[in-house]
Amino acid sequence: MERRVSTMAALLYTAAFMAASSVSSEAAQPKASFEDNFSIMWSEDHFKTSEDGQIWYLSLDKETGCGFQTKHKYRFGWFSMKLKLVGGDSAGVVTAYYMCTENGAGPTRDELDFEFLGNRTGEPYLIQTNIYKNGTGNREMRHMLWFDPTEEYHTYSILWDNLQIVFFVDKVAIRVHKNNGEPNNFFPNEKPMYLFSSIWNADDWATRGGLEKTDWKKAPFVSFYKDFTVEGCQWEDPYPASVSTTTKYWWDQYDAWHLSDEQKMDYAWVRRNLVIYDYCKDTERFPALPVECKLSPWD
Ligand SMILES: *[C@@H]1O[C@H](CO)[C@@H](O)[C@H](O)[C@H]1NC(C)=O
Ligand SMILES: *[C@@H]1O[C@H](CO)[C@@H](O)[C@H](O)[C@H]1NC(C)=O
Ligand SMILES: *[C@@H]1O[C@H](CO)[C@@H](O)[C@H](O)[C@H]1NC(C)=O
Repeated sequence: MERRVSTMAALLYTAAFMAASSVSSEAAQPKASFEDNFSIMWSEDHFKTSEDGQIWYLSLDKETGCGFQTKHKYRFGWFSMKLKLVGGDSAGVVTAYYMCTENGAGPTRDELDFEFLGNRTGEPYLIQTNIYKNGTGNREMRHMLWFDPTEEYHTYSILWDNLQIVFFVDKVAIRVHKNNGEPNNFFPNEKPMYLFSSIWNADDWATRGGLEKTDWKKAPFVSFYKDFTVEGCQWEDPYPASVSTTTKYWWDQYDAWHLSDEQKMDYAWVRRNLVIYDYCKDTERFPALPVECKLSPWD
C-alpha cells in the first residue's frame, strides 16, 4: 500500500486539534501509574511494566493470555491508547482493546471493540471492529492498515458521544457509527463502560478464518501499551452531571457530532482503499440490511 501524501496536511490538522485539548492537563501533573487507573483481570504474571511504569507488556503463551481493565467506568468521551502489536509470526494471536459495560460476556452488555488479528511473518495484520448493544453484536468490519503495526506505536482511539461513535487509527477515522436520535437497538448510549485490553489465542478463527494456527514455538507473544488517555465523563453513581449532553466538553460539542471536512477526506480514503469486510454490505448474511446501515456517515 502506497503511503498517502495528499492528506498529510489534513492529518496534521486533526492531530493538532486533538492535541490542543489534552496538553494542558497532561503537563500539569505527573503521569498516572498503572495502579491508579487499571487492574489486572487475569494472569498477573503475564503482565509487566517498564521500569518507569509507563509502558505495559501483555504476554501470551501456551498456558494463558492476560488482560487489564480500567477501575472506572465512563460514559461518552475520547478514549485513546498507543499500542505496538506482537511482531514476527503472530498468526492466531488476537490483541484486543475495547470498551464494555461489564467484565464478561453478559447477555445484555454493550461493547465497542478493536481487535487486532495477527498473521504469519510478513503477512498483514487485520483490524476488526464491532459494536454491541444489549448483548447483540454482529456488526463486524475489517480493515487493512497502511503501516506495519508491529514496528512502532500507533494511536487507537474511540470517540463516543450521543450522536456518533468513531473509531480512529492515528487520528484517521476508519469507522463511523451514527445514532438516529430515537430509541433503537444499535447505538449504545445508556450504560457507562470500562476500558479493557487483552491478548489471547484465537487460532480457531482469527487468521485466514482459522486455517493458520498459533506456532507456540514462537511464544511468548507480547504486545505493548502506553499513553492511556481519557477525556471523558468518569461515571460516579448514581448519575454524574456530565453524562447528559451538556456540550461542556469538546467531545460533546458540534465538532465531535460530525466528521470535519478533513476527517471526511481521510474516511473516504479509508473506505476506498482499506475495507476488507463491512457487515452493511453483506446482503447474503443480512438479506434485509440492519437499519443503522442506512444512516449516512457524512451527516
Ligand atoms: C486515574 O486515577 C486517578 C487517581 O485515582 C484519577 O484522579 C483520574 O481521574 C483517573 N484517570 C482516569 C482517566 O480515569
Ligand atoms: C435486552 O435483551 C434482553 C434479552 O437478552 C431482553 O429481555 C431485553 O428486553 C432487552 N432490552 C432492551 C431495552 O431491548
Ligand atoms: C493474513 O495474510 C493472508 C495472506 O496475505 C491474508 O489473506 C489475510 O487476510 C491476513 N490476515 C488475517 C487476519 O487473516
